[in-house]
Amino acid sequence: SALMNVMLIAVKKAAKGLVRDFGELENLQVSRKGPSDFVSNADLKAEKILKAELRKARPAYSFLMEESGAEDGADTSRRWIVDPLDGTTNFLHGIPHFAISVALEEKGEIVAGVIYNPILDELYTAEKGNGAFVNDRRLRVSGRRDLAESLFATGIPFQGKGGHARFLGQLAKVMAKTSGVRRIGAASLDLAYVAAGRVDGYWEEGLHPWDCAAGILLVKEAGGYVTTLDGKPDPLRQGSLLAANPLMHPLLGELLAEE
Ligand code: IPD
Ligand code: CA
Ligand code: CA
Ligand code: CA
Repeated sequence: SALMNVMLIAVKKAAKGLVRDFGELENLQVSRKGPSDFVSNADLKAEKILKAELRKARPAYSFLMEESGAEDGADTSRRWIVDPLDGTTNFLHGIPHFAISVALEEKGEIVAGVIYNPILDELYTAEKGNGAFVNDRRLRVSGRRDLAESLFATGIPFQGKGGHARFLGQLAKVMAKTSGVRRIGAASLDLAYVAAGRVDGYWEEGLHPWDCAAGILLVKEAGGYVTTLDGKPDPLRQGSLLAANPLMHPLLGELLAEE
């Protein structure tokens, strides 16, 4: 679609810069937003490109971006929700697992999403009602129905974020009953992996809209369920997220809620 084309042009252009910067990490300028919350000029440059390209194509739309925040355009019912570099910690350590995430929200609803891992050249796309894809391949969540055979992704809360004790409790429960837990390091890709059936479910708390906006649509369009940890329908605004195949979603939810 025309909309998808606009998003792809912006994402591909920003990705070129990220790949270049990833190849010369020693020249990167890094600063700290919190105790273990880093930002580099790679994040900032990518965000700048995304903003300029999206604005050029759709001048009226509003923005919510990780590094530059919220900015209203003439049209406040449509906004781009952008994470220019999801997985900054991986990126800064030379671990080739990070992505750009861009979503379009219309009247409070996510209607399109793109997540791009430029290292593997995996381009995840979804438009509401039209399914989810990686490159040209249609995505479908896994069909696993047994907790014991299932593999999950999660995010370990960063230092200074809070919720550490609760997280350790959740981890202990999931470790004891499943075939494993991965902390891969980029929330957008964790969701993309649920959509692709690579992991059977994913949970994390304390997320921001830019981490998960595109990924939530991707999982839904791939046939998965996405809610908050306590089963509420609005993970984007709550920042609490439970995504899984339809069989696993209630099982993981119950397991995490166990006393
Ligand atoms: C982070 C990553 C990470 C998740 C954090 C996010 P950033 O995003 O998605 O996997 O656990 O909650 O903040 O800072 O690398 O864009
Ligand atoms: Ca960040
Ligand atoms: Ca992020
Ligand atoms: Ca980021």
